[in-house]
Amino acid sequence: MASSPDKSGMFCKATALVPRVLLSATALIFALCCVFVSPGACADKIVMSVDASKTGAKINRNIFGQFAEHLGHGIYDGIWVGPDSSIPNTRGIRNDVVAALKAIKVPNVRWPGGCFADEYHWRKGIGTPRAVTLNPNWGGVIEPNTFGTHEFMDFLEQIGAEAYVSVNVGSGTPQEAAEWLEYMTTAQPTTLEKERTANGHPAPYKIAFFGIGNESWDCGGNMTPEYYLDQYKVYSRFVRNFNPAQQDKQQMLKIAVGPGGDGPRWTDWTETIMKAYQQHSWSWDMDGLSMHNYTVVKWPPAYASVGFGETEYAQILKSTLEMQDLVSKYSAIMDKYDAQKKVALVVDEWGGWYTPLPGSNPGFLVQQNSVRDAVLAALNLNIFARHADRVRMANIAQMINVLQALIVTDKQKMVLTPTYYVYKMYVPFQDATFVPISFDAGTYTHENISLPRLDAIAAKDSSGKVWMEFTNLDPNQPAEIEVNVAGTTAKSVKGETLTAPKVDSINTFEAPETVAPKPISGTVQGGKVSLKLEPKSVTVVSIEQ
Ligand code: AHR
Repeated sequence: MASSPDKSGMFCKATALVPRVLLSATALIFALCCVFVSPGACADKIVMSVDASKTGAKINRNIFGQFAEHLGHGIYDGIWVGPDSSIPNTRGIRNDVVAALKAIKVPNVRWPGGCFADEYHWRKGIGTPRAVTLNPNWGGVIEPNTFGTHEFMDFLEQIGAEAYVSVNVGSGTPQEAAEWLEYMTTAQPTTLEKERTANGHPAPYKIAFFGIGNESWDCGGNMTPEYYLDQYKVYSRFVRNFNPAQQDKQQMLKIAVGPGGDGPRWTDWTETIMKAYQQHSWSWDMDGLSMHNYTVVKWPPAYASVGFGETEYAQILKSTLEMQDLVSKYSAIMDKYDAQKKVALVVDEWGGWYTPLPGSNPGFLVQQNSVRDAVLAALNLNIFARHADRVRMANIAQMINVLQALIVTDKQKMVLTPTYYVYKMYVPFQDATFVPISFDAGTYTHENISLPRLDAIAAKDSSGKVWMEFTNLDPNQPAEIEVNVAGTTAKSVKGETLTAPKVDSINTFEAPETVAPKPISGTVQGGKVSLKLEPKSVTVVSIEQ
């Protein structure tokens, strides 16, 4: 493979570390060959080892969760068009969006925010007529409240996902939240139960996840960790889930606000909450600690979502890989106070956050979604999978029409983004068991930025089939890979790969398949799987026995 002298030198330097990290004898021979015989060949092949008999934690399907906030066209137009719309819908919810979301097996949806959640008053979103209010966080526009509790739960039922309800701590009260939960979950004939029945839903709703506040250190009320903790304890004590089916089994999991980045403030916040958890009494509890981390490089967001070159491609990927250190750092703090890992780290807001598209309302956070975002999504999902013992839930921001959206709509039109396709390709990893792999990633260098050339994960599904994902970060060079497979009989390999002509290639309404998965196959010989990965690509394959 042709590569510049500088680049091949970098690959060889990285590969010289191989004896420390590679397990297989074949890989070692290959590495020595790179260093002493043919330095240029180092860029050509990446040798990996996977042993399917050695397994790790379960990759909780909830790491593929979504986030739908009352923000811009995330809910209105994106999900809700109303029953009288000419856009095909079921009880006001768009059919095209539901079909697309069913195909990626969305495990849970976080709603109604975000910052919006701490100004949301649930009573305005039930019954008729609905109160018309404002959305001061996001463009100051009218909030018609036509999409409320019943519509959200109907949407979840249509797509087959669980509810992750974020409750108002900033401007609400524990009583308001407690009544909302009673309204949604009680089976007993209370006044609130009768009101729910009158509004069309006699059966109690299932609320799987319950977020107490959002970014309470900032838009959620600028609280100190101590003040938030006091609030959290009160909400945890009094806001109860009464659903009879959720008492012994399938209990609602309570999620506390956690860190929102790197630095002493967030370390302090995490320490305070986790230390209190370690000593918590019977009267309050916690099942998850949230973490928010966007790929933004600097505030306000200054990177374009389309019309960029390789420099911005490399800078954004470098920034997104910081997720690795953050997850490790907060996992380590949690380990100190919760060695048994009872509390999950819930990365319930993550994704690329770029400058708003020209002409759009800046409060609507509208951006394009390119093949760079597909690579970014795969890198983050792989980080979560590698920390599957602690990261048991994550929610990309956001589901439709906002930030790193999976789906973009415009009136009757809908297009699936490169990020959507990554989620579709990763479906086999939902609830699969992590399988460790070893490899030397090599290096992709652009200007002064050096990144791993390749990322990869492996997992075993419930039928015992081994799945592998490979992300080739290098936008210029394909990657030849050879996987030494042990612990299963590899007979053939097949799967899908996603790439595009340019680093900023996008899908549009006119050209919706520019960045869409295509079949890929490789060869298997003597337990060795060989594949060629396209530049800037995301690939998922199954090892067929
Ligand atoms: O996702 C957009 C916003 O980002 C959310 O409302 C908020 O929680 C975060 O700051």
